[in-house]
Amino acid sequence: MYLLGIDLGTSSVKVTVVEAANQTILATASYPETEADIIAIQPGWAEQSPELWWDHVEQAILKCHATKKYNPAEITAIGIAYQMHGLVLVDKDQKVLRNAIIWCDSRAVQIGEQAFQQIGPTRSLQHLLNSPGNFTASKLAWVKANEPRLYEKIDKVLLPGDFIALKMTGEATTTVSALSEGVFWDFKENRLSEDVLKTFGFSASLFPDVRPLFSSHGQLNASVAARLALKPGIVVAYKAGDQPNNALSLNVLEPGEVAATAGTSGVIYGVSDLLGYDTESRINSFAHVNYMDDLRRIGVLLCINGTGIFNRWIKTIAGQALSYSALNELAAQVSVGANGLRALPFGNGAERMLNNQIVGGQFHNLDFNVHGTAHLVRAVQEGISCSFRYGLDIMRENGIQPAVVRAGKANLFLSDVFTQAFATLNQVSVEFYEGDGSFGAAIGAGIGTRYYRDAKEAGSVRTPVSTTEPGKPDQYETIYQEWKKLLAEQLASLH
Ligand code: XUL
Repeated sequence: MYLLGIDLGTSSVKVTVVEAANQTILATASYPETEADIIAIQPGWAEQSPELWWDHVEQAILKCHATKKYNPAEITAIGIAYQMHGLVLVDKDQKVLRNAIIWCDSRAVQIGEQAFQQIGPTRSLQHLLNSPGNFTASKLAWVKANEPRLYEKIDKVLLPGDFIALKMTGEATTTVSALSEGVFWDFKENRLSEDVLKTFGFSASLFPDVRPLFSSHGQLNASVAARLALKPGIVVAYKAGDQPNNALSLNVLEPGEVAATAGTSGVIYGVSDLLGYDTESRINSFAHVNYMDDLRRIGVLLCINGTGIFNRWIKTIAGQALSYSALNELAAQVSVGANGLRALPFGNGAERMLNNQIVGGQFHNLDFNVHGTAHLVRAVQEGISCSFRYGLDIMRENGIQPAVVRAGKANLFLSDVFTQAFATLNQVSVEFYEGDGSFGAAIGAGIGTRYYRDAKEAGSVRTPVSTTEPGKPDQYETIYQEWKKLLAEQLASLH
């Protein structure tokens, strides 16, 4: 029995087919080959086309089939992981009404802040665990205020993964986890938040059916099945945001366990059994994949928008022909500290951990007679590591105190420079596991169809393939203190 997992990322779609019995990866494929763009028609805006996502999903599935490592007709269930917090709007014919306003779009920051004050900060935090901030609800309010005619045509509001499932099955469904990541969910009342609906003037009918996360979200319709050489009627049995899904794939399910990713964005994700929140909403609390009304599992999430995207940017600047592994080798050619060069990775929209301010990506101390490409690359990777430390300190303030962080060996964690700086600056061991988000999505589908009894059983076979231990903090601590001072100066200059 085979399971198909899809990971709808910002820069590409990845698909993996897994043999359920032993959790072996049979084949994997990504599409497109070159990283997809974010459309920014104004600074701070970020959009992508949902129909293009769907095309990329189809292409990635066909590319995976083309490996001929399995018989597609034996795939029995599909799982979907997706970039979080995006806004997809469809009309009554399930036609997309506008480009998706994606997670790192900053246009709704003010709208969210006003709603936070209107609902009342304490009430908002106690019920929603977050400020509406720059999340999906605030983005929808922006559409309502700025595109009223389009708003009237909305039949359903979907998260990106809900949209992919809709394309596959024709059914609009969602989950508590998805509604919580959009900041539409009231954790105290266990329903759509009346406060959010009332404050923004949204009708409850805009939201799809809420289904358990590990359950049927519809069956694959015949025409899609024919195009993708899959069996019609197989179920979409799992949908989760890419960060909770990454935690699932790393068996991070219980309080005290912590996962990290360093893709386009960077995330540290801890699990808590408390309905807790950061009073400034610098880190966020959403329903984890195993959240239930009577067994609360909250994902406490630190997100840095500008991590892998900064590394990608420097790769482009350094020369298109350079591969990521060549880039990482270049970073390793200069010593710790990049000869004084410091970089702030905040050029991908409003940063939640900086109270939704837009600081911008920056280099400091650049000396034309000293610094070359290798210094720039190293400074970027060290600067990203420093931003993780800044965020982890906020998580520590909020009771998440990891000694070990689990991660997939992917993206920035393929760089030794980044990984050593991450471990040392944070004084954590980093345990690496095989498999990525698309693997996690496939396993999620196995849980959704009850092939595995639950997430714990599915994760019990996983063991780390390697571990990076932290080094002595001395040198990195000095770099961090310098970096933090530069950031403080930049933040002060914004006021
Ligand atoms: C998490 C977040 C990002 C996106 C990236 O809160 O906004 O990590 O999920 O896909």
